Amino acid sequence: MSKPGVRRSILQRVFGICATRPPADQGCWKFEGGKVIVTLSRAPELAGENGAIRLEGMGMLQRVLVFRGRDGKYHALSNRCMHMGRRLDPVPGAEQVDCCSLGRSSYDHQGRILSGMARRNVLAFPVAEEGGELSIQIQ
Ligand code: FES
Repeated sequence: MSKPGVRRSILQRVFGICATRPPADQGCWKFEGGKVIVTLSRAPELAGENGAIRLEGMGMLQRVLVFRGRDGKYHALSNRCMHMGRRLDPVPGAEQVDCCSLGRSSYDHQGRILSGMARRNVLAFPVAEEGGELSIQIQ
């Protein structure tokens, strides 16, 4: 049986092209007071298992990957692989995110390294869900 992973071409790996997109509605999130707030009704990408968005900019020093696990819980990780800084993607059918680069580092949903070239965990940010919003503590 093959190892779970995200299917990528060699070119995607060489250029580090990730599968996860920014949200279609950029107004679904904001960054203030060291927290990311995501309005779930405006982020349909997060509705299903393995749904994910990547959040960047708006004055954040971090790139953030927000995704939904098989258990329906939301997770947020620093979207910067600890090998060479490429972006990560959730892996369908597994409790895992994979780096989009050639080194194929994998982490669990808590950011702990599972395999690949990286030697350190990625940062996991606490996520709270309330009133149709996610609140993600970044700083
Ligand atoms: S950047 Fe992730 S394994 Fe190299």
